[in-house]
Amino acid sequence: MARQYIVAGNWKMNGRLDMAQQLTASIVAAAPDSAKVILCVPYPYLTTVRDLCAKTSVALGAQNISEQKDGAFTGEVSGEMLRDCGVEYVLVGHSERRNVYGESDELVAEKFARATDAGLTPILCLGETLEERESDKTDLVVSRQLQAVVSRVGVGALATAVIAYEPVWAIGTGLTASPEQAQAVHAFIRAQLAQIDASIAEQATILYGGSVKADNAAALFAGPDIDGGLIGGASLDADSFLAICQATTKK
Ligand code: 13P
Repeated sequence: MARQYIVAGNWKMNGRLDMAQQLTASIVAAAPDSAKVILCVPYPYLTTVRDLCAKTSVALGAQNISEQKDGAFTGEVSGEMLRDCGVEYVLVGHSERRNVYGESDELVAEKFARATDAGLTPILCLGETLEERESDKTDLVVSRQLQAVVSRVGVGALATAVIAYEPVWAIGTGLTASPEQAQAVHAFIRAQLAQIDASIAEQATILYGGSVKADNAAALFAGPDIDGGLIGGASLDADSFLAICQATTKK
């Protein structure tokens, strides 16, 4: 089965209700069909964005999920609750969750499991820090992060999940991995999966994230193992985000 491009916007903790409405309306009006477009929005705006995306090709995503199912976990939001709000995709293990909130590989794997239990598609984020890249640990870190999930849920769960490679040093810094650097890590991730199951490796969608902008998207998306992007800052502006979506072609 041929892979499809995905372009996902991660709004992070930005915007207000009126911005969420305007941004969504502009995106649904012009989203191209060369890519699956996903909007990962703050919890309070999920249902508003869901309603604006209804009967369009644009899908709804959340940015986090609890590793718990139900119960006395004040402030947490479960996978079932996200499903109730019309969420289809959820970011798991974003580097800001790992590095700012201390989420371990094991916790991320548990969140991945909860997402699939609830019928959500996890977008599993992987990536190394600058220090790790400079000490040649990129492959080690990315494979450790991936293995934690494979050990918890089995490789089969990755066939329908989405993986996002986001080098931490490229997030919000304006420093983008070069198309060659990104392609090399994507190929490595696919090869890691192929060691376990070649057909799952072939099907897996692997996005690049980290300072993707309208002017570098096409070069990044041209990599044979790069199946689209996870976009932060540039997803807050409809024209920039749509230009990135349009940088995809049919796979
Ligand atoms: P930027 O596009 O702002 O670098 O953020 C990338 C990111 O973290 C998306 O999840």
